[in-house]
Amino acid sequence: EKTARVIDGKSIAEEIRSAIAGEVRRMKECIGKIPGLAVILVGQRRDSQTYVRNKTRACEEAGIKSVMAELPDNCTEDEICNALSSFNKDPSVHGIIVQLPLPQHLDEGKIFNVLSLEKDVDGFHPLNMGNLAMRGRESLFIPCTPKGCIELLIRSGVEIMGKNAVVIGRSNIVGLPASLLLQRHHATVSIVHAFTKNPERITREADIVVTAAGVPNLVRGNWLKPGAVVIDVGTCPVEDPSCEHGYSLKGDVCYEEAIRVAAAITPVPGGVGPMTIAMLLSNTLDSAKRTYN
Ligand code: GUN
Repeated sequence: EKTARVIDGKSIAEEIRSAIAGEVRRMKECIGKIPGLAVILVGQRRDSQTYVRNKTRACEEAGIKSVMAELPDNCTEDEICNALSSFNKDPSVHGIIVQLPLPQHLDEGKIFNVLSLEKDVDGFHPLNMGNLAMRGRESLFIPCTPKGCIELLIRSGVEIMGKNAVVIGRSNIVGLPASLLLQRHHATVSIVHAFTKNPERITREADIVVTAAGVPNLVRGNWLKPGAVVIDVGTCPVEDPSCEHGYSLKGDVCYEEAIRVAAAITPVPGGVGPMTIAMLLSNTLDSAKRTYN
């Protein structure tokens, strides 16, 4: 019985992070400056707190300075915009992220409008998103998770040009930019979402499947073309008493079935997640380089 190659996102991300750490050291030696990342965290969501802690720890390990602004669940858009404005002005800050999702009462659109384009290392500002979408234009930053997916494909030797790719999900932070990036790499892209009829008919034609639905076991073995490459962006917490915090993360793909059909697959955890953080560090370093070059 054949099984898929497992794409080891954790070790690829470690390689990238250590290369970034080297560049940060050299920047410090040459010009006496280090990259800086500012993180805005609103509210008490456990998942967001974990993501933010992982991001600031990764900064520390790479020699990137990180600063945090924590705001309460019931804060106003103005308070977030004030924090943003002061980071916008701070010359030691080269990247700013607002951890998503925000509490219901806050309008993401208003907040991302205030974020400096040049410091938008998540690539969520509408002008960066627009430039990513338009041919002949370049955004200053590519959203971290989709960029990590493409990086995994490239570093695993998967050709994208001319292939049929399917993206499951159309969120602003993953599905939409992933579909745009795959097109930039000359794939033929289909997008499948909650209202798609018979999604499996479409996924069965795909050479590359990027899934970001947040629905455990959505993608069954029989949804896949034999030899497909599967990038699983899903991270759904499921109860798991054998785990440290009583839960573990589950991807969108029925892994046990998929490994019998696919040529290569990313595990959850240890696939895309670590790459998101590596790409955030990479975007922050790029921003600092742009500032001083
Ligand atoms: N929430 C889920 N993914 C992300 C991300 O990449 N960046 C931010 N800021 N929030 C997120």
